[in-house]
Amino acid sequence: MAAAAVSIPRTPPKVVGPTTKGPTPPTEQLPQYIVEEGLRYEPIEFNATKHLQLEDPGRLYTMREIGLEGQGISNTAASEPFSLFSPAAIKQMRAEIFSPPVLSNCRYASTFATNMIRCYGPKLGPFIFDAWNSPEVLAHISKIAGVELVPALDFETGHVNVWINKGEEATPGKSAFSWHYDSYPFVCVTMLSDCTGMTGGETAMRTGNGDIMKVRGPAMGTAVVMQGRYIEHAALAASGVPERIAMVTSFRPKNPLVRDETILTGSRPITHRSMMYFQYSQYRLEVIRDRSDAALKKIRERERFGREFDIDAMREHLTEQRAYLESMLDELV
Ligand SMILES: [Fe+2]
Repeated sequence: MAAAAVSIPRTPPKVVGPTTKGPTPPTEQLPQYIVEEGLRYEPIEFNATKHLQLEDPGRLYTMREIGLEGQGISNTAASEPFSLFSPAAIKQMRAEIFSPPVLSNCRYASTFATNMIRCYGPKLGPFIFDAWNSPEVLAHISKIAGVELVPALDFETGHVNVWINKGEEATPGKSAFSWHYDSYPFVCVTMLSDCTGMTGGETAMRTGNGDIMKVRGPAMGTAVVMQGRYIEHAALAASGVPERIAMVTSFRPKNPLVRDETILTGSRPITHRSMMYFQYSQYRLEVIRDRSDAALKKIRERERFGREFDIDAMREHLTEQRAYLESMLDELV
């Protein structure tokens, strides 16, 4: 019997990354009050009861609603802001990212964002890592996303964008961050600043027919979830507040059998290569191993019950894995 044609998956959107030529520290100084918050840092243990204030978002925007039905890995496009962390948790996260070892080693600038704190890892950010990996947070984010998620990679866990108001008033609707697709399937953006009096700061999404839809930005302790790998979006400039500090954690599907179009385009120019390629290769090899185990189990079961070998199914599996391996060859450069 001839093998049936394997369905060729739709190609995901092309991502454009910063043109920065490698990890670069910012030139911008941080205000003294931020440095002082970090000097007061004392490690505390993450405690889900004390540090989480979980609420469902008032509204979810679906992929169908924004004209992108069938794209991506679930029907959730984005959420309205929802309560996630308690004030005590936000205070601790701020102290951790402003602590002296993090500020001296983990500040970066790129052609996309002038002031970032990232790649501090679980040793310098234990509270933040425990929070993002806690079963309660993952269950909540996954429920909103409509697909079970895990943090995509340690080095993209708790990435922080810092914007300090230096007196400039934002032009309404002007984007602080140009139009782009993310490199990771889902993103959760949590606000670490008091946004009382803030104007702007929304996320704009481009719908399937080219219209622009705005999603309200999160306030302190609240978060939004978005399927940024498949939706073109931009962060609109904020004004009326002294600072806007947002924590961005990227997610990928937990189930190794779910389509995974994670790429490193956005991370490569601002991340130390050896660490990035180790973490990426480690998770990808685990996915390949788990997919192979699942395929192996299937063929063994058929054989055990005396069923004929399913050539089409094996060809489909191998074709998918070939594309997965080819995408890795494109990333490891
Ligand atoms: Fe984004």
